[in-house]
Amino acid sequence: MLITLEGLDGSGKTTAWRALRDRYPGAVFTREPTDSWYGEAVRRSIDDEDADPLAELFLYMADHADHLSRVIRPALAEGSLVVSDRYSDSRIAYQAATLSDADVPDPFEYVRSIHDPVSRPPDATLYLDVDPETAAERSGGTNKFEHVDHLRAVRERYERLLADEPERFVRIDATRPQAAVLDDVTDAVDRLV
Ligand code: TYD
Repeated sequence: MLITLEGLDGSGKTTAWRALRDRYPGAVFTREPTDSWYGEAVRRSIDDEDADPLAELFLYMADHADHLSRVIRPALAEGSLVVSDRYSDSRIAYQAATLSDADVPDPFEYVRSIHDPVSRPPDATLYLDVDPETAAERSGGTNKFEHVDHLRAVRERYERLLADEPERFVRIDATRPQAAVLDDVTDAVDRLV
């Protein structure tokens, strides 16, 4: 089973991912961007204010392709529970937002369409929901993706994903204190597995 954690920067998904790692020591814990050189290329692009958004999308896709073949598919084939901190929905939400000013018609559908034939969809996704103001404040605005307006655009696209596939998503109110959020996260995963 593949479970993914999604949310805006500052939503606390990495803390949730760590709590799950302690609770499910036998599972495979992974993340995107990955630690491979593809993931490093992605991080270089994140730090580059002038990166071309379409070029950036394909760096993320290259990292995803490598992640699928090297980590995700082998772990699932072995029957492991796999938990990924960010996955395809991050691309659809974030890159659809960064591409909104580029020459790409319907970026949301476009980014989704390049996943469909090649990716392995998550079985369930925990969405840690925070408002863009809280997200920007918590994440400290260290990169170009963390500004409030941008986060607002990203959140709209996450909402569209949740509306399209309500059965896949578990929405968790991540504006509450961390202990309450972590309780909901572990309860949700306990129910799923
Ligand atoms: P994040 O998980 O927040 O990493 P860290 O905890 O190290 O800051 O991801 C880094 C940034 O990358 C974040 O702003 C979201 C962005 N991102 C995308 O825009 N598209 C993607 O497909 C992924 C995986 C991440």
